[in-house]
Amino acid sequence: MTIAPVQRTASLGSSAWTDARLIMALEEVVETELNRHLKVAKDWMPHEFIPWSQGRDFDGVLGGEAWSVEQSRVTPLGRVSLVVNLLTEDNLPSYHHEIATMFGREGAWGTWVHRWTAEEGRHGIAIRDYLLATRAVDPNELERARMSHMSEGFESDNSHSMLHSVAYVAFQELATRISHRNTGHFAGDPLCDQLLAKIANDENLHMVFYRNLLKAALEIAPDQAMRAIADVVTDFRMPGHGIPGFERAAAQIAIGGVYNLRIHHDDVLQPVLRHLKVMEVGGLGPDGLRAQDELGAFLGGLDAQATKFDERQAALLARRAARKAAQ
Ligand SMILES: [Fe+2]
Ligand SMILES: [Fe+2]
Repeated sequence: MTIAPVQRTASLGSSAWTDARLIMALEEVVETELNRHLKVAKDWMPHEFIPWSQGRDFDGVLGGEAWSVEQSRVTPLGRVSLVVNLLTEDNLPSYHHEIATMFGREGAWGTWVHRWTAEEGRHGIAIRDYLLATRAVDPNELERARMSHMSEGFESDNSHSMLHSVAYVAFQELATRISHRNTGHFAGDPLCDQLLAKIANDENLHMVFYRNLLKAALEIAPDQAMRAIADVVTDFRMPGHGIPGFERAAAQIAIGGVYNLRIHHDDVLQPVLRHLKVMEVGGLGPDGLRAQDELGAFLGGLDAQATKFDERQAALLARRAARKAAQ
């Protein structure tokens, strides 16, 4: 089995679990979770969700009609958010590289890595087909952004540690689920909503797989798993952070209610942390207890920040509505 080249023992002394030992110890759990996943994950056909009859030739080689914004039936917020979500999905080759290097490509781990990659591949295909067939976004801009984003590659913040990697993907899959689902709600096209709901369902099953793995890790190596969870939660950033213009897009996505601090705290962090009962995990040593305390303090602070964000968002939306009414 291929194992992670870096094995950190951090400051936990000789009793610490190395990545190689953890990968072996969790193989059985991976097999169980993989089998459960394969039972519940229903295959679906991305092409069935695309309104192909709305499509027509573009300008250029085929001499069709150039794209212009009034052709788009999705909302401005939907356009921004769909592009961020698609570019995030597009970087799959880099994500595959990261997890295949970390988890290996053999045994149950390898089967999961390849299956997960195949499922994720469907997401980018389906969203791009939808955007192009319905002329929802500028296809030239989209392609240029894809080239730029993928050319940068993606390097995980957590490639130094297997447990940090598992913790990150558990939260990230749920974040992606919520982001697709809310994008669908705000896109203004029921067909888009339907497609993104389907994709969000896949992301949810991915979250369940990693969350259950993280739960098993908390039992095997509680101190190290708690440290990984605390580090990942306190330093979380979305995988699409390298997208050109990400900051501006993220601000629009936040104000529009697709993904913001409140959603991150309430709909992403809390459900996973509650399921893992992280604040009730007992039997921790000094390192685990310190990480648990850090996590508790951070979550309290984040909730307060999210409340401030809610107030700013409400005030901004009220100003916008008043401006609109005065026009
Ligand atoms: Fe995905
Ligand atoms: Fe996923």
